Amino acid sequence: GLKIATIGGGSSYTPELVEGFIKRYNELPVKELWLVDIEEGKEKLEIVGDLAKRMVEKAGIPIDIYLTLDREEALKEADFVTTQFRVGLLDARAKDERIPLKYGVIGQETNGPGGLFKALRTIPVILDICREMERLCPNAWLINFTNPAGMVTEAVLRYSNIEKVVGLCNVPIGMEMGIAKLLSVEHSRVRIDFAGLNHMVYGLDVYLDGISVKDKVIDLLTDPRNSSFVKNIQGLGWEPAFLKALNALPCPYHMYYYKTRDMLEKDLKNAETEGTRAEVVQKLEKELFELYKDPNLNVKPPQLEKRGGAYYSDAAVRLITSIYTDKRDIQPVNTRNNGAIASIPDDSAVEVSCVITKDGPKPMAMGDLPVAVRGLVQQIKSFEKVAIEAAVTGDYNTALLALIINPLVPSDTVAKQILDEMLEAHKQYLPQF
Ligand code: NAD
Ligand code: G6P
Ligand code: MN
Ligand code: MN
Repeated sequence: GLKIATIGGGSSYTPELVEGFIKRYNELPVKELWLVDIEEGKEKLEIVGDLAKRMVEKAGIPIDIYLTLDREEALKEADFVTTQFRVGLLDARAKDERIPLKYGVIGQETNGPGGLFKALRTIPVILDICREMERLCPNAWLINFTNPAGMVTEAVLRYSNIEKVVGLCNVPIGMEMGIAKLLSVEHSRVRIDFAGLNHMVYGLDVYLDGISVKDKVIDLLTDPRNSSFVKNIQGLGWEPAFLKALNALPCPYHMYYYKTRDMLEKDLKNAETEGTRAEVVQKLEKELFELYKDPNLNVKPPQLEKRGGAYYSDAAVRLITSIYTDKRDIQPVNTRNNGAIASIPDDSAVEVSCVITKDGPKPMAMGDLPVAVRGLVQQIKSFEKVAIEAAVTGDYNTALLALIINPLVPSDTVAKQILDEMLEAHKQYLPQF
């Protein structure tokens, strides 16, 4: 049987993952699931861990679940390591979202200044985990879900000796499932050719039973109710003429780039009323953990689908299963480009449709990105590279440069003001600065 170690096991998403392991147990014989957290997350770990134990027991599946604060014990001889931790928890995310808004800049978990700071907090921790993996489970696969997932993947590829790393996001699978629903067909009949970066991915084409239905799908996406596929980005639609001209499927995060002012206005209004997304999620999380505490609950509660990461288990467990069984099916993941997208360097992490083998994801050739989107994708890749360098070196000027070249930041002076305030606000989690 397999040993899985999940870092950030106290996450409210853990029941998703456990449900995934239960559903695929026939193909993927997990013997041990180790949920790891830190002192601050101990209570959450216990609540969600107890629910996980009830879930496997109710399903009659012999997976042993271990809860621990000792990461090394969990990593020892693991076959797969999954990461879903959040350095600084949701309080840090709320600062990422609120501080930029004061300067008239988008405040978001993975984009703009918030994305930079989540990377600065997270990358040192993931590189620590990689060094431990080298010693304790050198053959394990690292399946990273921790955001910013694309930058975290690239940091591991560039700055660690771990090569078996895959970054995962639920947006591509969410788009496929959402489009299947709009077409009233089974998910398995729909496939999208994905190419781009994490939260900057485009569907270059979309097929139903192997035949392109791109025009029809673009028509469907012009309805504002169909414009996004994640719970955390809702309410605004696309200009139909824009989608037709683009002739590709944007992901929901593109709204921050193509509708910057409208998104900013919406987020400013939300921040004053219901709170930023992190603040909304803090309430949601409290409700979820109250449910999780119920000793009679022994399945994943449907309320979890209010979180943006819904269906993450499908993506994660499907990926692990295909690596383990050498399934060679197609899944969109974050991996080393290796020439799949012609306009991006070979050694950069990209989000792209891949054939999943026992040797990992093999990206499918996508050719050049359309000229209308190529520049933006390259610009974000440059931002990511500079941001990762700042996270590794702790160099102030490098962090400032990252922020200034980010398309969501309008001025060097504003960038410096935001950087200074955020460095101070997060200093507890930024030992490298
Ligand atoms: P959360 O705030 O519940 O944090 C998860 C757990 O991580 C907490 O229990 C916390 O105590 C723990 N933690 C913090 N620092 C840690 C460390 N150094 N080592 C081990 N554990 C640590 O977060 P969440 O809302 O469940 O999200 C978890 C992560 O998954 C976030 O990074 C989030 O951005 C990411 N996420 C990614 C996607 C995606 O598409 N890739 C989707 C949803 C969420
Ligand atoms: C999305 C993204 C994630 C993001 C999350 C936010 O679907 O793919 O990368 O972190 O959902 O969800 P939340 O419920 O925390 O706002
Ligand atoms: Mn130890
Ligand atoms: Mn994501």
